[in-house]
Amino acid sequence: MKVSVLGSGLMGHGIGEVFAIYGNYVTLYDIYPEALKKATINVIDSLEKLKQKGKVDNVDEIMKRINTTLNIADISDSDLVIEAVPENLELKSKILLQASTIVREDCVLASNTSSLPISELSRYVRRPERFLGLHFFNPPVLMRLVEVVKGNETSEKIFNQGIEIAKSIGKIPIPVRKDVIGFVVNRILFRVFTSACSLLGKYTVEEIDSSAKYLLGFPMGIFELLDYTGIDTNYLISLEVKKRGFNYTCPALEELYKKGNLGSKSGKGFYDWRNGRPKILRRDKMPKPEEIISSAIQEGEWIVENGISTKEEVDLAVKLGLGWPKGVFEYKAELNSMVR
Ligand code: CAA
Repeated sequence: MKVSVLGSGLMGHGIGEVFAIYGNYVTLYDIYPEALKKATINVIDSLEKLKQKGKVDNVDEIMKRINTTLNIADISDSDLVIEAVPENLELKSKILLQASTIVREDCVLASNTSSLPISELSRYVRRPERFLGLHFFNPPVLMRLVEVVKGNETSEKIFNQGIEIAKSIGKIPIPVRKDVIGFVVNRILFRVFTSACSLLGKYTVEEIDSSAKYLLGFPMGIFELLDYTGIDTNYLISLEVKKRGFNYTCPALEELYKKGNLGSKSGKGFYDWRNGRPKILRRDKMPKPEEIISSAIQEGEWIVENGISTKEEVDLAVKLGLGWPKGVFEYKAELNSMVR
């Protein structure tokens, strides 16, 4: 399959890498030559790590399947195009319109958006019935989940095709049957971010992250994850979802964004990343698990009650998309048994 990825940032390059590993021919498009250079370096670095673990055989062969381009006309012959530009409606709508005008009639067009409704983006697309959400998790090469999102106009055939596409690259697809803000995993994650941010002042960044890592068993601290996925990305997401009525609030995120401290990519965010990942130690003082997870549990219940995904799908999605050891309903059962 010929796959084009629009935007070669943190998500775009990782999505392209996954498709290339599974034998697809990938075109990575960006408007910035430096971004494409950085993307190529990042893909090679990641493939080398995977090779050391015996997960891929030949880095050069995979790299031969990846082309980079500054010319959007080069995507015209794609079977699948995935948009992964920054979370900004104007930017996304412009590029989606451009792409949908260029591609073949039978091309599947997808967005990796985290925060914008697929149905809203579909207004800018020529064949909205062939447009859907394929939402990957960072880093796409390691996280097994893809949320497959059906917009109001997405045809059943393309939705099912999206599920097959995700399976064809070794991912576990979770069907998101209603196009709600943040889909499934991010609705839950945004609640956790908001709860963690509201605890700042009462606890430090390190104390909150210590609870996330050592009491809840998350693979990363909450503020570490905000840094890792990008302060800019998260700030832009928070603005977009807030505009659409979902309360994702974190004043500390805005402060960092305004100072240009964008997290791991710029070397500084909530943590200093210049010497690699921060070492989060177990603290004596830290929030109780329920102070962090309760709002996420409530969100999981809302998702199930509203027929977006099932209880089992929600738990699987957070385990695969966020690497949590338990799903929200499993945390709920654990907290209930502790109270008894
Ligand atoms: N490619 C290849 N290998 C990689 C890699 C990459 N991009 N990134 C990390 N690795 C490797 C590391 O080199 C390391 O290898 P060794 O074991 O040989 O040292 C291995 O993976 C494990 O990495 P770490 O030791 O650094 O740490 P870890 O065990 O914590 O695993 C992680 C890393 C898989 C990223 C894990 O921390 C994790 O699951 N974190 C949560 C990530 C998450 O929540 N992602 C979703 C964010 S939300 C999102 O993306 C959606 C959105 O819309 C905003």
